[in-house]
Amino acid sequence: MRIKTIDNYNELSEQAADIVAIEVQTKKNTVLGLPTGSTPLGMYACLVKMYKKNEIDFKNVITFNLDEYIGLPPDHPQSYNYYMHSNFFDHVNVKKSNIHIPHCKDQDPILICREYEQNIKRAGGIDLQILGIGTNGHIGFNEPDEYLYTETHLVELTEETIEANSRFFKSRDEVPLQAVTMGVGSIMGAAKIILLASGESKAEAVKEMLSGKVTTRVPASFLQLHRDVTVLVDIEAASLL
Ligand code: F6R
Repeated sequence: MRIKTIDNYNELSEQAADIVAIEVQTKKNTVLGLPTGSTPLGMYACLVKMYKKNEIDFKNVITFNLDEYIGLPPDHPQSYNYYMHSNFFDHVNVKKSNIHIPHCKDQDPILICREYEQNIKRAGGIDLQILGIGTNGHIGFNEPDEYLYTETHLVELTEETIEANSRFFKSRDEVPLQAVTMGVGSIMGAAKIILLASGESKAEAVKEMLSGKVTTRVPASFLQLHRDVTVLVDIEAASLL
């Protein structure tokens, strides 16, 4: 695991975008695993800027999002589908047919999860997975628990995650209780992983992730077992290291 402490959020975002750009320039049909949330917003903004300056071409890039809420229509402003389009896809040239975001409207979530996992395999696996980290150490929506799932699966969100995400909704009651997420095995299957963490609220989770103990109580700690992980942290998120 490489740990890079970076002065501030803007630089962290630029460095993350540079890693994505190198990957895409090296392999035109790169398969990217993408996160949502506050942390990667700066990285997406940098990638959009690079695209507008003709520095990066997403024409053959394939994307798989980490997760999506159940119960929100794709055009709901808090759905991850909406987030991805408004912050990234609508401003670059990723082909619609190459975008994958798990969505379960009326379909059986189990089938959707199975199909999602097969699509990742069919695409040849993820080349570069980008992650954020929850204050409780979650990655995707793989929440701390007695056990973790390997593949894409349906998940009941924890109180802590519902509370953390309620800042994006009008009230806490509107936060969906379930989501579909790639599993820890789907994430660990990526050839390369970068994890971004910014702000003091992430300091404890970052410390636990890197503490040396691999435990299902801190899902991000499993990344210690991966051979190519870069953790980009700003000074606040690194403050307990
Ligand atoms: C979102 C995701 C989550 C977030 C995490 C941190 O797709 O996978 O694991 O990365 O909750 O979210 P922010 O960046 O909002 O603090």
